[in-house]
Amino acid sequence: MQPRRRCVGGVSGQLVWVVLVWSWRMLVEAQQAPKTDPIEVAALNAIFARWGLTASPQWNISGEPCSGFASDGIDWDNRPNITPFIKCDCSYNTNTVCHITRLRLRELNVIGQIPSELQNLTYLVDLDMGRNYLTGAIPSFIGTFSRMQYLSLGSSALSGPLPKELGNLTNLISLRVSDNEFTGKIPDYLGSLPNLVELAFHGNSFEGPIPESLSNLTKLTTLRLGDIVNGSSSLAFISNLASLSLLDLSFNNITGQIPQSLLNLGNIQSLFLGNNSLTGRLPEVISSSLKTIDLSYNQLNGSLPSWATQNNLQFNKYQSKFYTYSKNNGTTERIIQPEKADIFAFGVLMLEIVAGRPNTINSLEESKIYLFEWLWSLYEKAQALGIVDPSLKEFNKDEAFRVICVALLCTQGSPHQRPPMSKVVAMLTGEAEVAEVVAKPSYINEWLLRDGNQSYITCSYTGSTTSDFSTKRENTHLLSQQRSLELDTKEVS
Ligand SMILES: *[C@@H]1O[C@H](CO)[C@@H](O)[C@H](O)[C@H]1NC(C)=O
Ligand SMILES: *[C@@H]1O[C@H](CO)[C@@H](O)[C@H](O)[C@H]1NC(C)=O
Ligand SMILES: *[C@@H]1O[C@H](CO)[C@@H](O)[C@H](O)[C@H]1NC(C)=O
Ligand SMILES: *[C@@H]1O[C@H](CO)[C@@H](O)[C@H](O)[C@H]1NC(C)=O
Ligand SMILES: *[C@@H]1O[C@H](CO)[C@@H](O)[C@H](O)[C@H]1NC(C)=O
Ligand SMILES: *[C@@H]1O[C@H](CO)[C@@H](O)[C@H](O)[C@H]1NC(C)=O
Ligand SMILES: *[C@@H]1O[C@H](CO)[C@@H](O)[C@H](O)[C@H]1NC(C)=O
Ligand SMILES: *[C@@H]1O[C@H](CO)[C@@H](O)[C@H](O)[C@H]1NC(C)=O
Ligand SMILES: *[C@@H]1O[C@H](CO)[C@@H](O)[C@H](O)[C@H]1NC(C)=O
Ligand SMILES: *[C@@H]1O[C@H](CO)[C@@H](O)[C@H](O)[C@H]1NC(C)=O
Repeated sequence: MQPRRRCVGGVSGQLVWVVLVWSWRMLVEAQQAPKTDPIEVAALNAIFARWGLTASPQWNISGEPCSGFASDGIDWDNRPNITPFIKCDCSYNTNTVCHITRLRLRELNVIGQIPSELQNLTYLVDLDMGRNYLTGAIPSFIGTFSRMQYLSLGSSALSGPLPKELGNLTNLISLRVSDNEFTGKIPDYLGSLPNLVELAFHGNSFEGPIPESLSNLTKLTTLRLGDIVNGSSSLAFISNLASLSLLDLSFNNITGQIPQSLLNLGNIQSLFLGNNSLTGRLPEVISSSLKTIDLSYNQLNGSLPSWATQNNLQFNKYQSKFYTYSKNNGTTERIIQPEKADIFAFGVLMLEIVAGRPNTINSLEESKIYLFEWLWSLYEKAQALGIVDPSLKEFNKDEAFRVICVALLCTQGSPHQRPPMSKVVAMLTGEAEVAEVVAKPSYINEWLLRDGNQSYITCSYTGSTTSDFSTKRENTHLLSQQRSLELDTKEVS
């Protein structure tokens, strides 16, 4: 009995030992694997539940959000297409606690106000909720995100004035609120956010003037602040902004002359000052970095300085970006960069399909060279159907007229006057009334500036070759796929 007992006792002793070692390991592992702050997990899950979102499998493994892609060492920017997405910093409390530092809820078609649970994600440095249907105002709790560096709320339906608390975010590097319905003054406090490198404010209904305090922002490389509804501004604040590479101040009623100091800025590459009230002559010298200038729709006078032509030669490969409108006596360059650029492009394509011709045909009689010029002259004479492809023997006149009117609306100079894509679709399908076109469309751009992307997509709308036409069709095709809209030539006819 004794040996047996000992034998049994020995076995159970081993078992206890194994179990002990195993549980100890589990304990260590449990201690070692960092856990996401439960308050943040609750906030994230509440937001996701509210909007019916689910995380992609790569980052929400077994209910622990800061896992998988969300906490690996790969840079956030290397996975731009994962949305929704988070990134965590798991180095807190000696690598035991994770905080959510980046949140991407971009292009998810979510509808509603900015959720209040967001305020519990207090460690955010990067919040991207762009391209949704967010409504209401930016909540004042935005001011508590003291770590925030990148805040992107562009292309939604947010409204109201910007909250004063936004001025507390002194670490902000990039602030994008473009293409919303914001109103009120452009806040002075922007000038006391010293780290700003990018500001995108265009496509709203802010009131002027542009605050002088912006002259403080010497790190700015991109400033896009257009479509101010009233008041007038001057360009005086620009001269200190030595880092500027892209400046877009179109549609702002900016008065006065274009200062030489602006065109001297050493890094400036793209300058959009179209549709303002600039007067006087153009400066004689420009920075060699300048590649694109839009000064259309101003009251500039005098002869074109020598750089205008030198530039064309010097930057011959960019020549397509310069569009000299021949009837204009050579006093201004017309290069339009439209906001809601895809809407604009879509309008051009629609009209080209109806008319069965490209936008520009230089060999035609003068009144017909530019498709939209020709259309506008017909439209004013109530003969818009004259634009329809003559090879179409039979077509539905109402439908053709509707497409023509929508094309005119899409190509308006001011982005405020262009309908959103949902409206375009509704008008084309007959679900929405086609608004009356009151203003002449803008001139056709040759390239488009995309929301939130500083690189340019070249689309040669003025070209009359078939290859240009097909490039354009491809681009627009992508767009129509994206919006699940197929516009078939036959459907139009
Ligand atoms: C993560 O996964 C858990 C369990 O599968 C789930 O309950 C939770 O909603 C998920 N969280 C997110 C943010 O998707
Ligand atoms: C934020 O977290 C606290 C603490 O867990 C909680 O009481 C509160 O309800 C949360 N707030 C929101 C808006 O979810
Ligand atoms: C914002 O800054 C002001 C001082 O400029 C301060 O009084 C206020 O408490 C701050 N608000 C938040 C939400 O941090
Ligand atoms: C400019 O920046 C300085 C320092 O950041 C700040 O003290 C000052 O108030 C700012 N000026 C304006 C007009 O915002
Ligand atoms: C543009 O500025 C001028 C000069 O300050 C002003 O008289 C005019 O009313 C402004 N226009 C608009 C549309 O605000
Ligand atoms: C700008 O327009 C708003 C209303 O649209 C008005 O309240 C405000 O007084 C105007 N500001 C100026 C400077 O005209
Ligand atoms: C150019 O414009 C300025 C200010 O608008 C005006 O004073 C000047 O007479 C104009 N010059 C010419 C040649 O039209
Ligand atoms: C072109 O400019 C010249 C003066 O530089 C002027 O005489 C002529 O009338 C202008 N032509 C048109 C079409 O404006
Ligand atoms: C310039 O902008 C104003 C305000 O948006 C608009 O009314 C006007 O039609 C524009 N001019 C042109 C030539 O596009
Ligand atoms: C911007 O667009 C260019 C050209 O389409 C693309 O190569 C680049 O990756 C984009 N950058 C970002 C940050 O989206």
